Amino acid sequence: MFDTKMLAADDASISEAVRLLKSGEVVGMPTETVYGLGANALDENAVRKIFAAKGRPADNPLIVHISSFDMIKPLVSYIPQLAYKCAQEFWAGPLTMIMPKSDIIPEVTSGGLDTVGIRMPSHKAARAIIDRCGFPIAAPSANLSGSPSPTTAGHVFNDMNGRIPAIVDGGFSAVGVESTVISFEDDAIRILRPGFISAEELKEITPNVIIDKGVIAKLEQGAIARSPGMKYKHYAPKADITIIDGSLDAFRAYVKKHSDSDTVCMVFEPNDCDGLDVKSIIYGETDEKQAHLLFDTLRELDNIGAKKVFARCPRKSGVGLAVYNRLLRAAAFQVVTLK
Ligand code: TXA
Ligand code: MG
Repeated sequence: MFDTKMLAADDASISEAVRLLKSGEVVGMPTETVYGLGANALDENAVRKIFAAKGRPADNPLIVHISSFDMIKPLVSYIPQLAYKCAQEFWAGPLTMIMPKSDIIPEVTSGGLDTVGIRMPSHKAARAIIDRCGFPIAAPSANLSGSPSPTTAGHVFNDMNGRIPAIVDGGFSAVGVESTVISFEDDAIRILRPGFISAEELKEITPNVIIDKGVIAKLEQGAIARSPGMKYKHYAPKADITIIDGSLDAFRAYVKKHSDSDTVCMVFEPNDCDGLDVKSIIYGETDEKQAHLLFDTLRELDNIGAKKVFARCPRKSGVGLAVYNRLLRAAAFQVVTLK
């Protein structure tokens, strides 16, 4: 086995990353949401290496990343009016837009679908890499399929050492959860995956914003997912997580009654567990902090060997909806609702 090289996000390292990408290799790269596993989106063989490194099912399509709006035109067969508006308002940034694909997007990249998700990241190193490659970069989150998305280069190294040649270290991902994924229907925007760009913000573009059922409900057996990622198990730490939906007092009463020496609580603030005889781990008191820390917290639960976790429930609106959507999957949809 070889060791994956860690590159600083300086000019020389970006040149090295670009050299690798141009030669058809896969590189771990920072973005403002989470780290990505990048490869030339138009090169089938390079894209296959991404699927192999992650152990990702072949029918789960990859997001294609660009560094300027002009790069979009050859990739899609049609750009809806609403997409222009969203790009103007939210790009570069954590928004992925699904559009009908053109023929130059290989089937491996689109997971066999006739659409493609496009995103222009705002992270400086990501932009520089795409810019200097001159081709669009396909990049899923840089975790092994099924584990929490990586928000540091160290997380990527833990999952990908020996599987990819290099990782560019661009620091802790600012947002911490993956991009908002949307599709367009006539004059409506459908949210397939919530993210830092919230439903409330998208409503400034059009009042017709639909939150797909799959965002907070478990997909029924046999149902067709509008976004293939919805049907796969995600973000699963080894611990058994239960989300406790209720006031702080109700949470504390529940923990007191149901905890044992193995219990770890995932809470908003240091004093949430005062007076309770349990370990606790803090993931922040605002939506934004929770988004920033969620995946790091899930990995930390594994590091400390947590077995049983009670988590305080994020808000179900704004950026909180993105946190709730990820935590629900980490908890395999186990929620206890208290008055
Ligand atoms: O923030 C992000 O989006 C990160 C960074 C690296 O850019 N990328 C990311 O990629 O989260 P990934 O592959 O882990 O998640 C992409 C999600 C999957 O659930 C996939 O099914 C969905 O987007 N998706 C991609 N293309 C799609 C398409 N054409 N139609 C429907 N869903 C699509
Ligand atoms: Mg992912």
